[in-house]
Amino acid sequence: MHKNRFTRIGFILAAAGSAVGLGNIWKFPYITGENGGGIFVLVYLATVFFIGMSIFIGEVLIGSLQNKDAVSTIENLAPTNKKYWKYTGFTFLTGIFILTFYPVVIGWIFNYIVLSINSLPSNFKESETLFMTFLKNDIFTQIFYYTLAFIVIAYTISKGVKKGIEKLNNILMPSLIIILAILLIYTVQLDGFSKAIEFMFYPNFEKFNSSSIIVAVGHAFFTLSIGMATIITYSASLDKNVNIVKASITVVIMDTLIAIVAGIIIFSIIFTASQEPSKGAGLVFITLPAIFYQMGTIGIYLAILFFIALAFAAITSAISILEPTVMYLVERKNMPRKNATYSVAFIAYALGLLALLSNTDSFSTNLTLGSKNLFDWFDFISSAILMPIGGILLAIFIGYIMDKKLSKNALVPFMGETYYKIWLFIMRFVAPISIFILMLNEIGIIKF
Ligand code: PHE
Ligand code: NA
Repeated sequence: MHKNRFTRIGFILAAAGSAVGLGNIWKFPYITGENGGGIFVLVYLATVFFIGMSIFIGEVLIGSLQNKDAVSTIENLAPTNKKYWKYTGFTFLTGIFILTFYPVVIGWIFNYIVLSINSLPSNFKESETLFMTFLKNDIFTQIFYYTLAFIVIAYTISKGVKKGIEKLNNILMPSLIIILAILLIYTVQLDGFSKAIEFMFYPNFEKFNSSSIIVAVGHAFFTLSIGMATIITYSASLDKNVNIVKASITVVIMDTLIAIVAGIIIFSIIFTASQEPSKGAGLVFITLPAIFYQMGTIGIYLAILFFIALAFAAITSAISILEPTVMYLVERKNMPRKNATYSVAFIAYALGLLALLSNTDSFSTNLTLGSKNLFDWFDFISSAILMPIGGILLAIFIGYIMDKKLSKNALVPFMGETYYKIWLFIMRFVAPISIFILMLNEIGIIKF
């Protein structure tokens, strides 16, 4: 059944393709800006390297042990009297939430690639009007690009792991890295570069509070694609005899480096133009385009490269968000891959349309609940709540429920006894306890 496996490098690129996405280039810089920089980055890095990396290794471990969809994987690994743990496999349904806002943003990116080629806004006021008009009134163009995004995503998945996912990632990921390297080389010599470094790494407590911690931790899960069976699913197609620990560490480091590099590029440009880093979600779509314009011809090239990089990163992630559900339908419900892909894509497409409309003037009043519209709710629920919960459930399953011999035999050869013990300690105690306390704080049971 599984002649269809990733090579080692194919897996690393596909898993990195999943991890590196809007989270790194769009979300990380703007939430860093909103939460004051340095301290926020520190909490994010600590969560990524202690909790995130351990859960990532855990997902690759069980995925590669079973070579099945996420539900079957957990079911098969659970002891006979605890088969109900298989329901944790259904965390892939979180993907449906993410897929509602993710392709909407991919649509914006497509629009901005075209805009960069045709005509960038010449100043900040104009840029803001342009983005807001697009977001709030230009329903047709938004739906057009949104639909295009879905077609690319669904087409690739329908082609399967090797011919679709691996092939696309093998092209897009190296291109993405080259583009970011070009942008980085350019920004290193800008005046704003040192200020960008200072902003990202120098502790600033002013805008940092307990909800910043939740955003940072939620983002650590989101950025690594963990807690929703994506990495389990990709690892199910991993070739045997791959050093899964080394592969995991490589992906986590790539994801982190790319987020930091994206932050440096964006903040260098922003500070060189004496702009504010705390502009929220519009940072990339409002502030940057006007700055690119003011740079002259070089700015146009930079803009095109930047938005293409963003599109590549986002498409490879969106694919990995859909794949676990598709794989489940293919393996457990015996659906042909094409049918599975198009059914799931259709449902996500319809929900995403609601998220898209919730941003527009004509519909926003009907599609807003409390302080957030549907678009923001989908984002918040998936990354700040569902993914961390999915992550702890998995940590508990691997740390307590599954036979310890399985993880020991598979991991010790690659990481040694000592690191295995540290890993197990994080899975059993550090990850569940810290996320649990954070959730209690979030729903207001305890306050810090
Ligand atoms: N990790 C991706 C990003 O940083 C988002 C993602 C989440 C992808 C969950 C797959 C699964 O943008
Ligand atoms: Na990421």
